[in-house]
Amino acid sequence: MYANLKDKIRVGTYSRDFIKDLIFLNSVDSTNSYGLSLKAKEEGTVILTKEQLDGRGRNKRPWHSVKDKSIITSIMINYPEKSDSISFVPLLSANAIIETLDSFGLSSKIKWPNDILVNSKKISGILCESSFVKERSNFIVVGIGININLDSDDFMQENIDYIIKPTSLKIETGNYFNLEDVLFDLLNNFSKWILEYKKSNYHAILEFWKNNWSDIGKEITVVNENKLVTGIAHDISSRGELILQTDHGLELINSGEIKT
Ligand code: BTN
Repeated sequence: MYANLKDKIRVGTYSRDFIKDLIFLNSVDSTNSYGLSLKAKEEGTVILTKEQLDGRGRNKRPWHSVKDKSIITSIMINYPEKSDSISFVPLLSANAIIETLDSFGLSSKIKWPNDILVNSKKISGILCESSFVKERSNFIVVGIGININLDSDDFMQENIDYIIKPTSLKIETGNYFNLEDVLFDLLNNFSKWILEYKKSNYHAILEFWKNNWSDIGKEITVVNENKLVTGIAHDISSRGELILQTDHGLELINSGEIKT
């Protein structure tokens, strides 16, 4: 399935400087769980699978993917020394996905905190998790799922209650895509952004993210710790928090979901 990926990664403009190892699995419960359980972790290790049996999304939701039709990957990165820069990791991951979809002819937008949408439907999601083991280096596992060649029927087979209607690259463009081509582009773009991150170029990460943010200037309602907060999406702080202009002034929201 990914026969030439290693060779492409080795010569990719950015991937050659970041990606160290590819782990291919035929089937796994979750590539994120697999990455978290690895004893010897090395930054730049990428876990790939054809099929994920118990894919996890944010807020303990399941992540649905279909064998050979979805990109399912987890990328290991070192936990940063300056832990307050960690919020840039999901942002730069979103940037890499946006660029990748764009290079395959599809314009997408980011919905805070980190859903990737096309025409208000979800095409991709990001789940960043950290692994802390005493006296060992700490890691972040960046899990990315992208719906590539799924058809509408593929989303109806399982009884999943989608919060946001899902879609795929194939549904949106009418074309079939080579998974390896899209995955290589994703990993090369991810490498580009992570190298910016290592250079502390946070401004570039944030600016790209904001330029592709769907909600800026719009009135939204956020569910945060069972509370609803309504306001105008004003900005994103340098720590990735949502800044809402409410009737009581600016409010910083560090986690939650936009009510749809
Ligand atoms: C979300 O939008 O809720 C996040 C979805 C993240 C899915 C990916 S697929 C690869 C990795 N392994 C998992 O179990 N989840 C992430």
